Parts: sequence; C-alpha cells; structure tokens
Amino acid sequence: MLKANWIHPSYNMGKVCPLFRKDFFIENTVASATLYITARGVYEATLNGTRVGDFIMAPGWTSYHNRIQVQTYDVTGLLQEENSLVLALAEGWFWRLKKSQLKAVIAQLHISYTDGTTEDIGTDESWLVAESKLRFCHLYNGIIYDASHSPVFDTQAVIASDNSQDLLIPQQGEAVKEQERLKVKEIIITPKGETVLDFGQNMTGCLEITLDAKKGDEVSFSFGEILDKDGNFYNANYRSAKAMYKYICKDGIQTFMPTLTFYGFRYVRIDSYPARIVPEGFTAVVIHSDMRRTGYIESSDPLLNQLFSNILWGQKGNFLDIPTDCPQRDERLGWMGDAQVFIRTASYNYDVLKFFRKWLNDVKAEQYENGAVPDFIPSIYPRKPRISTAWADAIAICPWQCYLTYGDTDILESMFEPIIKWVDYITKTTTKPNLWFGGKHYADWLELGGKYGKFKGPTRDDLVASAYYANTVSLLIKTGRLLGRDVSDYEALYQNIRSAFIREFREDFRTQTEHIMALQFDLTDKPQAVADSLAELIHKQGDMIQTGFVGTPYILHVLSRYGHTDLAYTLLLRQEYPSWLYPISKGATTIWEHWDGIRPNGDIWPVSMNSYNHYAYGAVGDWMYGVMAGINTVEAAPGFKKVHFAPIADDRIDWFGAEIETAYGRVSSRWWHENGRVHYEIITPVEATALIEGKAYKLNAGKHCF
Ligand code: BGC
Repeated sequence: MLKANWIHPSYNMGKVCPLFRKDFFIENTVASATLYITARGVYEATLNGTRVGDFIMAPGWTSYHNRIQVQTYDVTGLLQEENSLVLALAEGWFWRLKKSQLKAVIAQLHISYTDGTTEDIGTDESWLVAESKLRFCHLYNGIIYDASHSPVFDTQAVIASDNSQDLLIPQQGEAVKEQERLKVKEIIITPKGETVLDFGQNMTGCLEITLDAKKGDEVSFSFGEILDKDGNFYNANYRSAKAMYKYICKDGIQTFMPTLTFYGFRYVRIDSYPARIVPEGFTAVVIHSDMRRTGYIESSDPLLNQLFSNILWGQKGNFLDIPTDCPQRDERLGWMGDAQVFIRTASYNYDVLKFFRKWLNDVKAEQYENGAVPDFIPSIYPRKPRISTAWADAIAICPWQCYLTYGDTDILESMFEPIIKWVDYITKTTTKPNLWFGGKHYADWLELGGKYGKFKGPTRDDLVASAYYANTVSLLIKTGRLLGRDVSDYEALYQNIRSAFIREFREDFRTQTEHIMALQFDLTDKPQAVADSLAELIHKQGDMIQTGFVGTPYILHVLSRYGHTDLAYTLLLRQEYPSWLYPISKGATTIWEHWDGIRPNGDIWPVSMNSYNHYAYGAVGDWMYGVMAGINTVEAAPGFKKVHFAPIADDRIDWFGAEIETAYGRVSSRWWHENGRVHYEIITPVEATALIEGKAYKLNAGKHCF
C-alpha cells in the first residue's frame, strides 16, 4: 500500500498533458531514497531536473482494469537540500479505457535518514499542477510539443474519486528502454520534391532532433515505412494513426525527443524545418522491452542473413511491453495469434521469459468467467472480442514454449486452470461434439488463394479450429502430467477429438494448411501419405507457399519431418513472390504482414490492413534454428538442460550456423561443405544427442566434429 493518492488536475486540460510538482527540503542526512510510482496513463518523473530511471512508456501496458504495475526507482543520488519532484503524465495506452476513467498518477517518495528516521512524500492535493510543453500526446497520433511554453504551476492537484490501490502490483515485465541509435543513411529528395530521411532500417522508437532555431519556429515530420513505386513518401497504411511530430522551438541550440509515445518508421518526411538539414541533426532512437539477446544465425547466403535480421527487427519492433502485431498503424495490439506463432523463434532470439510471464498474467486476468479468451490482450473498450481458434490458444501454447525454452514450470502451474477453462469452453460451445465447429475464427488468416485484398483463403475454419482444439488438449495433458494432476478425462477427450477429426475430414485435405494442421498436430494415421500429398500439392502450385498465419510456422517443419527437406529448402530459398525472401528483393528490413505487401509490379497492398513490421511470418526462424542448425530442446529435460541436435544441410548453401545462449551455456551448431562432403561442428555445454545424416550419437559436453 502506497502512502499516496491518485491525483489529477483540478480542471479539464483538453489535449494538453499535465505536470505535477512537489517541492521539499531535506535537513537530515539521507541513507537511501526510493520512488514508487505509477499512472493511469504513461508518466515520466524528474527529480531536480534529472530523469528518474530509463523506463520509456512506464508503467507499460497491462490489463488496466485488473492490474497496474508500480515501478520502483532508487533515487538516493538525486536528492539534495532543496528538491523538486516533477511528474509528467500522458494518456499512452490508457486512452483505450472507459472515458469516465480519468488519467491520474500516484507516487510515493520514501526517504530513510542515517539517524534511523524515515519520511514519506506522497501525491496529494498539496502537489502543484501546470499545463506542460506537451500540448498533445497520443499513442497513434503523435505529439505537439511547444518548447517555448513555460509551465506555470498555478493550480493544485485533486485526489481522484477512484482513489483505490487495489489494482496495484509490483513491476513484472521487462522495462521498455532505449536500445540503439540509428544515423541517417541517406537524405532523399523524392520525385515529388519532398525531403525524406532514410534511416535504412524499419524500426520502432522515436526521432531525436538537434537544431539551432528561434523561439516560435516550427518543426514537423511525417513517418513512413516504405517509399511507393515512384520513390515518393508513403504512409497511407498507418490508417487513422496520424503519427504527428510537431515541435515549436525555443531560442538557441536545442535537442528534443518525444518519450511518451512511439512511432514505427524507416523514413521521415521533413514537412517544416527552420534550420539547415544536416544528417547529424537527426537520430532514430530504437526502443523495446529490455530483453537479453540470446540467438544468432549466420550463413554464406546474404539473403538468409537479411531474413534473419528482418526477423530480429520484427521482434525488436513489436516487443514493446506486450507482444504486438505491428508498431505503426492504429492498432499496436497484443494479438494472441501473432504471439503464439512467433514465440518459439522469439524465445531463441532473446530471453523473453519475464516478458511473457507478465503478459500471460494479463491473459489470465482477461479470460472470461465462461473460459472464453479474447483475441488480443490487454483488451480495449467498448468492444466484443472474437473468440478465435489459434488466437485464444496462445493461452496454452505460450506457457508450454516458456517451459521448453526456459524450463519454467511456475508458468505452467499458473496457467493450468485457465487452460482447462478454455478447453471446457470449446467443449461446451461447439456445435459438433469432439470437434470445434460453429465458431467465428481468424484461422489461417491472410492465407493466399482467396480474392486479392481479402483476409481469408480456402482453408476450412472448422478444420483449423478442430486441429487447434486437439493441440490445446494435448498441451493441457502434458502440462497436467508434469504438475502431477489427474488428466484422465482430457486423455479420453483427446482420443475422441483425434478420432472425430480423422472421421470428419478423412485425410481429404484441400489446402497446404489443411495438410499441415493434420501433420503438425498428429491428426492422421497416415502421416507419410499426407506429407507426400502436401509435397505434391506444393509442386502443383508451382513450389510456392500459400499459407497464412497458422500454416506458415509449421510448413517447413512438417516437410522436413517426413523426408521433404529438399522442398522445404526450395520454399525457404525462393526469391520470387510469394516467399520469405521476396520482400527482401523489395528492400524489406523487417517481416511484412502480407506475402505481397508490395506486389512484383510495385503496387501496394490495400491500405485497409498492410503493415511492414509484423513478426508473424518470422516464425520461420525456428525452422532455421531447429532444422537447418538442428538445435532442439528436449521435452523431458527442458530449458536446454539437454539438447538434441539434428542439423540438415543443403547443397544450395555453402555454410550455415546458429547459436543459442542458454542457462547452461552456449549451444552451437554449424555445417559447411568441403571437398564434396558436409562437415558438422556441434558445441554443447550439456549432455546431448545428435542425429547426423541418419546416424545417432550420444554426446558429452564439449565440441564435436562430424
Ligand atoms: C492484426 C493481426 C491480427 C488480426 C486478427 C489484424 O488487424 O494486425 O496481426 O492477428 O488482426 O486476425
């Protein structure tokens, strides 16, 4: 319980963001000082002019009507005799909540003195309030900042009518922080005559500017991810997100960067600028959750290297406190489907355990009483979410992947009851027993083969839903067994689903994804025949991938599992549309939402839904780690306590290697062609097994060459 109150301004400031200030003296000698703070909105604290901590967009996004994280900062070194604590507040993600809920801030400064006494300074009505330089600040629409404005603290704060602290919890996730700084790669004058900065990399963050200007001069920018086919600036795909950046100068040399919103961009169009445009005046500041990098992939193929880089940047751009679909348009939401398809790759690239633990707590908090799970989390209001297969199933898939990659059983314990509730919901609502029929699903979202501009292809929703139902029940059983629970009812249910699936669909699969579902989730008694039929279908379709969100992550896995690795490599290495490498030929530096975000003729996908920073198809990364390099977790010894290596080389690539920094040390696998043979080198910090060109090996910790 904080010794403090939720406070807000005494009057409606409209779009202007408030500042709250408390001045105080210290006469005693300080032993330590801690600032606890959170907001209904996003905040930034400064103590005696110095920013407190480096968390950007604090307190992050949780299911605000259930939980709000409180941050704790050691501010001992910032205190002096005469002090001024200032809190800036903006809406951040909070604007999505009910209009009646006023944004507010709560803070407590706890000071311990060397004589053993303590003092607390908490937010209350004695705090002074001013209209800040931040005249407008919105998650999607950007900012208007007036550096020439001098805040006047002439009113007092009001204690919020909802002054409860019931929802407060300590910080759980990784803080969002500044991670990298990118320089201008090129200043472009477009055919339209506009000046556009190219940072060379699609990314998520902010733009820092430094210029010499006069009071009242105006600076303004627009942000975009691509140039259109004529080379002109383009950002119609941001939809209603205005992503404004308007800055009114003060006198002299000045540096500014917005920190209470963010942008997804590679290009910045200079709309007005009072100074000479020099590259040094602009820096793109990359922000994301503070995850530790653990995974590395490198090969002799520059396109594959670029693909891996795009996968990493997709993760950096969308792991901003929650796993989002995209960082630029009027969405930026915690879509469950996107998160579950990408989590395995994500968990190899970076240590994301803490990140997912926090988000899964929100998933749990937002699950309905009847077991239904929303399609994105945190939710926004007012909106009735779609209860969709493969999206809601993130509730079981994500904890299981955290178990496999990190050996974490707490997350399984915490999510076990919610998984049961979810499975029971399906069982109760389906219109056909032992399958999931009758729901409304995203299913194989963005699959090809439908009408251009439509979001769905020919794969049957009921088939996908039934397959995911089986998979989630199977994860429930594995989870339950590990936790020592009785899951016999679900074991029986699983058998029933499997038989019903086989009976219903009779191995008559019409699309790539339909085959993949049966193979990946073990819903056929004739897997080899189904895999061969998948390979045949792919050949018939011109050796081209046709899958959407649910087929794409597994297609290469099921091919290589059943002897079609050659074809899997063909799909991976294909450079023409549709393929993973095609966007690279169009200059992509992140993973696109659509296989044809930019069509071969340069046309841009309809603005209704077109992101160039959407990590979902980056899920192919786990095939690169798991099959090309052959680094695999072992279910019975998770968290890389043991490793299973099964690399599969291909003649079209001279050399390939991957590395994962695990809790037990560095796991590495590489191969190269030399004198007509493939050489393999494996480094394992733990006991391992290996399967190399059909031969099985038992390995001790160390380096092994084959
Ligand atoms: C998002 C997707 C998401 C989908 C639901 C889109 O608007 O960007 O990535 O999963 O909606 O199908």
